[in-house]
Amino acid sequence: MANVVVVGAQWGDEGKGKIVDWLSERADVIARFQGGHNAGHTLVIDGKVYKLHALPSGVVRGGKLSVIGNGVVLDPWHLMNEIKTVREQGVDISPETLMIAENTPLILPIHGELDRAREEAASKGTKIGTTGRGIGPCYEDKVGRRAIRVADLADKATLEARVDRALQHHDPLRKGLGIEAVDRDGLVAQLKDIAKEILPFAAPVWKVLNEKRKSGKRILFEGAQGALLDIDFGTYPFVTSSNVIAGQAATGVGIGPNSIDFVLGIVKAYTTRVGEGPFPTELEDADGQRLGERGHEFGTTTGRKRRCGWFDAALLRQTCATSGVSGIALTKLDVLDGFETLKICVGYELDGERLDYLPFAADQQTRCTPIYEEIPGWSESTEGARSWADLPANAIKYVRRVEELIDCPVALVSTSPEREDTILVTDPFAD
Ligand code: IMP
Repeated sequence: MANVVVVGAQWGDEGKGKIVDWLSERADVIARFQGGHNAGHTLVIDGKVYKLHALPSGVVRGGKLSVIGNGVVLDPWHLMNEIKTVREQGVDISPETLMIAENTPLILPIHGELDRAREEAASKGTKIGTTGRGIGPCYEDKVGRRAIRVADLADKATLEARVDRALQHHDPLRKGLGIEAVDRDGLVAQLKDIAKEILPFAAPVWKVLNEKRKSGKRILFEGAQGALLDIDFGTYPFVTSSNVIAGQAATGVGIGPNSIDFVLGIVKAYTTRVGEGPFPTELEDADGQRLGERGHEFGTTTGRKRRCGWFDAALLRQTCATSGVSGIALTKLDVLDGFETLKICVGYELDGERLDYLPFAADQQTRCTPIYEEIPGWSESTEGARSWADLPANAIKYVRRVEELIDCPVALVSTSPEREDTILVTDPFAD
């Protein structure tokens, strides 16, 4: 297959880093299509650890083109720092290896300030638990038609007019939150400075990608966050501000949906969530604690402890459908080793009725109680398994039951952070 989209199929942190790295080795182009530096992807290559937030994972592999698409919101100062850090680790990044879509909206310092001030001012129940990186306010400016985009950095008069337009909106907002008015000239000066560093990477990404596609190059679309944080299909309003589902890969770079050949959904063998919001299978007991400890469940971007719970097949059926998932990569199976009994949520009970999906109404989401199916666990270690023969019979039964319940085949099973510790069933890039 020529073009593969990788999406997180839960609330993010499904272990995309390892899978994306493995796939990016075989891709020619790696493109980010949504989100921003709220993402955190850790890659371990030849013993070196790379922590990426805004850069596509492909940058650390030589000979690839990495692309930041228009669906992303980009903090140019953060990006230049990230580039500096990976360059210090010996990675070559140049306009030949990294392109940024000219129509990408920029995250400004005022977006982060607004994001954090709102979260601080929010009361319990309205706090989202954002990463505080200005993602939401920047997307608001994009749809409000007052964003400053990469291309605007090239012309002084356009840039100043765009800044004035943005501040007409932001200054009254800031006043209401008790934040001082923006130093307009200071912001313009900061933007002019960073323009010199960013503009060399600016490109008509839609055009480049369509040409690559036509010449048979393999494109990997690297999703961030997870489908349950999608602005439309997630647990709204406790979501991120972009579309996360696979359809966004097309609009987030400017290719047609018919260019997507395979959608790989990354799925953790249990469930985690950072930040606020409904989580029907959350465990606040010793089992939840054990999943968190064994799975090292702390956020890469904010260091926050992740909430943990049982696998939710009802939600997975939903995300596999809305993203058109062709196959899943099941990760962190080894974290389930040693549980006597495992539970899988197969649906919900709401007001005495059985539902096979999570409804959108907020009050119903919080009142839905999971209906569980119990599955016998296994005492053997699955860590490092590389073939079905390495797995205990009950672990295979668990994987097969997951496939059945979510109505989607397993393409890969990951059994440790090491890239070789993977059971490969279907290669998403295979013809
Ligand atoms: P924002 O994207 O910073 O606006 O945060 C909105 C919600 O998405 C919060 O619950 C965050 O914890 C969550 N979130 C954002 N990025 C990630 C991610 O990369 N992994 C997991 N959760 C994320």
